[in-house]
Amino acid sequence: MALDIVIMAAGKGTRMKSRLPKVLHRLAGRALLAHVLDSTQSLAAERTLVITGHGADEVESAIAARGVLPVRQMPQLGTGHAIQQVVPHLGDDGTTLILNGDVPLIAPETARALAEACGGERLALLTIELPDATGYGRILRSGDAGGGRVLGIVEHKDATPRQREIREVYTGMMAAPTRLLKQWVMALRNDNAQKEFYLTDIVAMAVADGVPVVASHARDETEVLGVNSPLQLADLERRFQKRQAEALLDAGLRLADPARFDLRGSLAHGQDCEIDVGCVLEGQVRLGDDVRIGAHCVIRDAEIASGAVIHPFTHIEGAKVGAGALVGPYARLRPGAELAEEVHIGNFVEVKNSTLARGAKANHLAYLGDATVGERVNYGAGSITANYDGANKHRTVIGADVHVGSNCVLIAPVTLGAGGTIGGGSTVSKDTPAGQLTVARAKQLSLAGWTRPVKAPKTPK
Ligand code: UD1
Ligand code: CA
Repeated sequence: MALDIVIMAAGKGTRMKSRLPKVLHRLAGRALLAHVLDSTQSLAAERTLVITGHGADEVESAIAARGVLPVRQMPQLGTGHAIQQVVPHLGDDGTTLILNGDVPLIAPETARALAEACGGERLALLTIELPDATGYGRILRSGDAGGGRVLGIVEHKDATPRQREIREVYTGMMAAPTRLLKQWVMALRNDNAQKEFYLTDIVAMAVADGVPVVASHARDETEVLGVNSPLQLADLERRFQKRQAEALLDAGLRLADPARFDLRGSLAHGQDCEIDVGCVLEGQVRLGDDVRIGAHCVIRDAEIASGAVIHPFTHIEGAKVGAGALVGPYARLRPGAELAEEVHIGNFVEVKNSTLARGAKANHLAYLGDATVGERVNYGAGSITANYDGANKHRTVIGADVHVGSNCVLIAPVTLGAGGTIGGGSTVSKDTPAGQLTVARAKQLSLAGWTRPVKAPKTPK
């Protein structure tokens, strides 16, 4: 059965009070619209159409790489008018599934079940009962107590006080027989409170045409909640984070507090890993076994091997941390930092585009950029690689077992021979020999007969 998917994303989102189009606001690091597109991925639709309008250029460039067809709706005259715009692009037969770009957490199984409930023959509505249905379209059913056949949907603004008491609402998602949907939307009128073409009016048309209307219930509230305001976005973000955290806890990850953990991407972890409060993980993060992450770390696109300990307030991006390594507190690993086993990176140490071999240590206040650091190197406090000459970057190579004293400046390109020692305070601009002490600083000097100057006595005027 051919399936087309239409995602409505032309609306203005006035209540976001933002210059950014609503569907590009981020939930867990990804645009709302990207969440919806991800949910539909497994449905193998013939085509996916995205209706754009407000901020169309931005929305269209955001989805350019996704193999979906944007269709512009200008101006925006309602949800029914939106679907009118895609009529020429839809298939001849089969099912059309209509989703909303601002309802990000729709589960793939729910979307699939909705399409199946339609089956190219019935009009299937996704509905839910809400304790407070204000603002939503209400499902009208036959029979006094409701509960009978679906007869139509009445928008909140057009509803009578009696109708406003109805708790069953339309979630904004439906699946319709494509051939009939096209006929129905072209016959819509806008004689209602908002002078809009309401997609929801096709329900009464289906009833009049004797087409069965089925309402499938959403499994939970979260998957049908829309984003209209920053408050709703923040609420949905919390729900999403809670759901992710609970799944991770179920899988054995020990989160100190699931309410104080944010994952904006994916996290793979081994056994017996612990993450303390206030951490933000972004992109793709992989942890081995027995990894401990202290409080308030920000970690993006990183691999952290078994037994490594990341102390609090550490920032890691695009880096690899070897087994048993110790990092932080207050360390910064930037892209291209690769630490082998048992490396120690201490407080206020920044590492960028550098490899540190097994057992190397830089424990305090240091910078390693574009460096290759050998095994067991000890890199002293306050030392830096001067890797940038103002135009180009150069490498510093530090052989195995080198000790770099405190406050050294290594002016790249430079190579420090294995086993050498660099005296504290040295500015090293030439390669140094293996196994020797190199000191490159002014010699210390003491003057025996020197006396301090004394202040001249004040002469009275
Ligand atoms: C709509 C439904 C209502 C339902 C509610 C669920 C209609 C007439 N009403 O109401 O029954 O309970 O959703 O949230 O359909 N859009 C366009 N072009 C337009 C207008 C809207 O693309 O001209 C898009 C919006 O970007 C949004 C979606 O359609 O993604 C829904 O529009 P919105 O204005 O939020 O609909 P509601 O009035 O809330
Ligand atoms: Ca509206």
